[in-house]
Amino acid sequence: MKLTYFGHSCFQIESGGKHLLFDPFVSPNPLASGVDVGKIAADFIFLSHGHEDHLADAVSIARRTGALVVSNWEICQWLGRQGITQTHPMNHGGSKILPCGEVKMVQAVHSSSFPDGSYAGNPAGFVVECADGHFYYTGDTALTLDMKLIGEQYRIDFAVMCIGDNFTMGPEDALRAAEFVGTKKVVGVHYDTFPYIQIDKSAATDIFQKADLKLLLPAIGETISVGR
Ligand code: NI
Ligand code: MN
Repeated sequence: MKLTYFGHSCFQIESGGKHLLFDPFVSPNPLASGVDVGKIAADFIFLSHGHEDHLADAVSIARRTGALVVSNWEICQWLGRQGITQTHPMNHGGSKILPCGEVKMVQAVHSSSFPDGSYAGNPAGFVVECADGHFYYTGDTALTLDMKLIGEQYRIDFAVMCIGDNFTMGPEDALRAAEFVGTKKVVGVHYDTFPYIQIDKSAATDIFQKADLKLLLPAIGETISVGR
């Protein structure tokens, strides 16, 4: 199982020959100017919420690839109005077996609106059980006690967590979240893109190291090995 980081909260998981793309925000991100958004492969696109920094390139990638877009009801309706009809709507607490594995939409404590300010449903995270690894993507969220339920219900091999602070968890809360879900391996996202969320990366990795956990911060465009 491989993970490629495309900057901000956009990452791609390659598992069983399928490409799962999360929260594509690439073309407006100057830090990701080296990534050709027209070449990103996707069989599935997961959208955690309606904020621009999570779905800027979703319509164009869905149109080009024909990927199935998995998101909440409101975002799927919004995509439909733009001609993207290959969508799979979910809501919190629901699971579904999709060709990439079993997917559960879970709680995120955040807000969610479309770039024009209209209602985009509630923000979410995802638990995905692929054949070669199980992972949890937090989406944008605060630390919440509900994450303990994920640790009780799943064996999580790694988690992708927001660590940029200010709008979401920072590194210290992400460490507690990792302890709640019972994983030792965290890939940090949602940091450094904007001045509000600039962090000290070596301080963040130290916090995890001291607790005997690993915080992975792949470079933009880098592919790392994850999963079991
Ligand atoms: Ni957000
Ligand atoms: Mn965000």
